[in-house]
Amino acid sequence: MPRHLINFKNWSREELLKIIDKSIEIKKNPEKYRNALEGKSLAMIFQKTSTRTRVSFEVAMTQLGGHAIYLDWRTTQFVLADIRDEVRYLSRNVDCIMARLLKNADLQLMADASLVPVINGCDEKYHPCQAITDLMTMKEKKGSLEGIKLVYIGVHNNVCNSLIEICSKLGVEITTVTPLTHEPALDQELLDEAKRSGFYKTETDVKKAVKDADFVYTDTWVDMELFLDPKFKEEKEKRIRLMMPYQVNSQLLAESEAYVMHDMPIHRGYEISGEVVESPRSIIYEQAENRLYTAKAILLTLLSAE
Ligand code: CP
Repeated sequence: MPRHLINFKNWSREELLKIIDKSIEIKKNPEKYRNALEGKSLAMIFQKTSTRTRVSFEVAMTQLGGHAIYLDWRTTQFVLADIRDEVRYLSRNVDCIMARLLKNADLQLMADASLVPVINGCDEKYHPCQAITDLMTMKEKKGSLEGIKLVYIGVHNNVCNSLIEICSKLGVEITTVTPLTHEPALDQELLDEAKRSGFYKTETDVKKAVKDADFVYTDTWVDMELFLDPKFKEEKEKRIRLMMPYQVNSQLLAESEAYVMHDMPIHRGYEISGEVVESPRSIIYEQAENRLYTAKAILLTLLSAE
């Protein structure tokens, strides 16, 4: 059975730390890995839009000596056939599949049918590749993950789930200020497990939460597949009204020394002010750049080239 990266449920603390450290090492010594995946192919299939996930995995494969194939779901036979049949074929021709699908249930079908590793490129419940990058960025910035405090402010969504999951596994304190949950993202088992770890807390007072945070993190209030959907317009407006007091801005951070993170794409003037994006405390673009190094580390780990 191939090893998949769907979420972190089957990944140990040691394995996750190894990927984070490998990402940092690859960033420092890219030449060492120049031909590590020579002759290997990655299929990247997208049901949703992407900039970073597509670019980072495609460039990662090129720089590792391999090859990536971009597949827009709508132009493949996935639209008219059983996912399992298409994946049984696909996994006979490539060495790894990275998929950004609307539904985690479909990704699970894909993983069950695949002969090669399947990587979750972000579904409605999880965004594991982003969370690995985020912890890599935090470790890079502070030198260690020991004693670090992360505060997530926004809608409880897929990014929030993966951050809670990885932080509680690695022993990094995470506090979430999430007045609203995006219902499709809900994973009670993940939250229960995180609560048991003692590293996951929730807070309603956003000012109090950021005061001694090392990193303040925010994300879009509306998931990408719904952002431009006219059917979601009313809910989007409702969310903006409810979430505006939780915007990450200079006033909120006045008494905080925290670095600011965002997984991008950014909606300036909504979840974060333009001023904070441009401020020295913002590490958003470094964080986004790091997607490349974690993509390489994930590929090398799953393809056992290391
Ligand atoms: N953060 C992230 O996954 O970016 P994209 O949606 O552009 O891939």
